[in-house]
Amino acid sequence: PHEGYGRTWAKAILIGEHSVVYGHPALALPLHSLRMQAWAAPATEGEEPQLSALDYEGPLAGSGERFGGLRRAVEVTLNYLGTTGQGFHIRTESDFPAGRGLGSSAAASGAVVRALLDAYDAAVSDEDILRLTNQAEQVTHGHPSGLDAATTSGQGPVRLEQGAMRTVRPRGAAYLVIADTGVAGSTKEAVEGVRGRLEADPDGVGRLMDELGNQAAAAIADLEAGRMEPLGDHMNQAQELLDALQVGHPTLDKLVQEARSNGALGAKLTGGGLGGCMLALAADGDDADRIGQALKAQGAQQVWVHRLVA
Ligand code: PMV
Repeated sequence: PHEGYGRTWAKAILIGEHSVVYGHPALALPLHSLRMQAWAAPATEGEEPQLSALDYEGPLAGSGERFGGLRRAVEVTLNYLGTTGQGFHIRTESDFPAGRGLGSSAAASGAVVRALLDAYDAAVSDEDILRLTNQAEQVTHGHPSGLDAATTSGQGPVRLEQGAMRTVRPRGAAYLVIADTGVAGSTKEAVEGVRGRLEADPDGVGRLMDELGNQAAAAIADLEAGRMEPLGDHMNQAQELLDALQVGHPTLDKLVQEARSNGALGAKLTGGGLGGCMLALAADGDDADRIGQALKAQGAQQVWVHRLVA
């Protein structure tokens, strides 16, 4: 093998987080300006494989729970290739923060899988690459919906419903402004909290969930028809429902309000919530830049502008 290289991207959920867990549709898209890159360099005999990722530099084997998914990505890919005797030094480099709902774990696993396959010049189907990435994600997330793995390596927006995925072709013109609150939100904690509230009040919370699913379905139809204003309204309503499910956060609220007062067509949290990132829909590039600057002035740690419709 030679040194291999792999690349994936960050992802954002436009709408449908949480209700997707209960069988409703969701829409997510890759953010092609935010790359995750990985390199896999063959270790020579007797050399201990090293990992360089985030703030970690050290033996791959001793890299701890945080990198369990990444180690699993190495393991399942080398098994797949039938070359478990060869060790690799792994290095990842990310343009976006980890643990903010941007899909960094799936993106890193996907990039590492690709880097190892590249090291052997292995021609492998997209389905097999996704399957390997999902196996790694199971270590990180337990029961991943597969949305992150598919989106972080995908070409464009994807609709997921009950495990079935299809490509979505947006029409019209719009921009997304994505902002990091700087608050770490645990997706696992958020998902467990919602489950607990649903079990305690199946009717009341069940209605919120169904309504969230309706908003997501309507939003996807709007995006495919190029109806940006109604799409924004659905995002706003989804935000209220997510708040009612108690996955909001005061810093998210502050940024969502700020985006709306600066002309966003809609604004909501993205991903698991309890912190992490928010996103806003902007009609054009000028609106997007103004919203982005306002969010920074309100304390957003980082802001990215993404063209939603190419
Ligand atoms: O926080 P993220 O980006 O991993 O998104 C979580 C999305 C949820 O719907 C809350 C959970 C899930 O498994 O789909």
